[in-house]
Amino acid sequence: MTSKTSYPKAKINVVLVESIHPRANDLFKAEGFQVQSMAGAPDARKLASLVADAHVLGIRSKSDVTPAILAAAPKLLTVGAFCIGTNQIAIDEACKRGVPVFNSPFSNTRSVAELTIAEAIGLHRGLGDKTIQMHRGDWDKSAAGSHEVRGRTIGIVGYGHIGSQVSVLAEAMGMRVVFFDIISKMALGNARMVRSLKELLEVSDIVTLHVPATKQTQGMIGKSELARMKKGSFLINNARGSVVDVVALAAAMKSGHIAGAALDVFPDEPAAKGEKFESPLQGLANVFLTPHVGGSTEEAQEAIAEDVCDKLIKFVNIGSTTGAVNVPEVELPEQLIRDGARTVRPHRILHFHKNVPGVLSKMHTLIANMNANISAEYLRTNEEVGYVVLDVDPSDGEAIRKKLAEIPETIRVRVLW
Ligand code: NAI
Repeated sequence: MTSKTSYPKAKINVVLVESIHPRANDLFKAEGFQVQSMAGAPDARKLASLVADAHVLGIRSKSDVTPAILAAAPKLLTVGAFCIGTNQIAIDEACKRGVPVFNSPFSNTRSVAELTIAEAIGLHRGLGDKTIQMHRGDWDKSAAGSHEVRGRTIGIVGYGHIGSQVSVLAEAMGMRVVFFDIISKMALGNARMVRSLKELLEVSDIVTLHVPATKQTQGMIGKSELARMKKGSFLINNARGSVVDVVALAAAMKSGHIAGAALDVFPDEPAAKGEKFESPLQGLANVFLTPHVGGSTEEAQEAIAEDVCDKLIKFVNIGSTTGAVNVPEVELPEQLIRDGARTVRPHRILHFHKNVPGVLSKMHTLIANMNANISAEYLRTNEEVGYVVLDVDPSDGEAIRKKLAEIPETIRVRVLW
């Protein structure tokens, strides 16, 4: 093994803002990186000064990583959004600079699924209203309108990460599961795929939505879909506010056709904590309203920290961009090669370039002229940039890096050894 490394890990500076879960701090430190963490979202000026020397930046949803912030961070290799959305980051500009952005879209799957099951039971037992009555001092002991979920049919719309997890948990509770998805999905356990949303609505005692916000899912559950649902059935929306017409839902509940609903997401959500929330569903019987907290648990925060850290560390250490939201995804497995009697790690070139014809052939010529043999290579492109990872037999890594940096189309190049 070569003992000298291209860049000492102890010189990699990680800046974490917005009280990212402490697990992130531990994982970066275990990797040997320097970590600076702070609570709260810094303003633009403070963030610009924090990133001036940073190789890795970790944020949550409240820090705006604008083109100006990226310009103020000449050493920045990558950005981690320790949350789901990446709207707060100028991801296209980051792509043009060869800075991959990673997030964690699926670490809160279990949290949403558990809330959904809790709501399914809560709606069948009228738990929300009973609790309010008890707080008011009313003792309304009665079995009327209360049901077990065992044996009831749950209809899952969208059988992705969350929908399929709900399927497993619901079956464990003895529920019958039907699901509808636009993509043909393998049914878990005894779940049954139905051919249309119409069929799902007609057979389900409880309908739960787990689809993304798209043009197709906009207003997916409106007046006619609600009318198609069984009389006395329930609706759960823990997906996105745009999926349900809440005015039509309120009307269907007032008429007694829909017996209860649980909503965690709304067409108009307050922008910040403390802002007033208004909905036509307020004050109706057997309705759970929660402030978009389906995925908000401490376990999910920790899982997000682990997921994003893994992606950032893999990019810094071996150049893998799997899971990046803005650059081509490339993952070249690590390999060992023979060098005489020794087994050695190849030198790894990570090269972001403008996606124009001829760049790869310039690189190949240059590498061949330096007598460096290529042992593995993986290129992918998007409209703007190409990203290629090449393993070459150990040679003068720094000289190769300098030469590749001179290619006019090069955006960014690193050589790891
Ligand atoms: P996913 O991408 O794993 O699954 C979505 C599924 O919906 C896919 O199988 C897809 O094929 C299917 N689908 C898309 N359009 C459809 C249509 N028109 N009809 C039927 N199926 C359709 O997504 P995941 O992680 O399961 O998330 C589901 C939803 O939950 C998303 O809207 C997400 O934003 C939301 N979510 C809400 C949270 C909360 O705090 N309440 C937290 C996390 C996710």
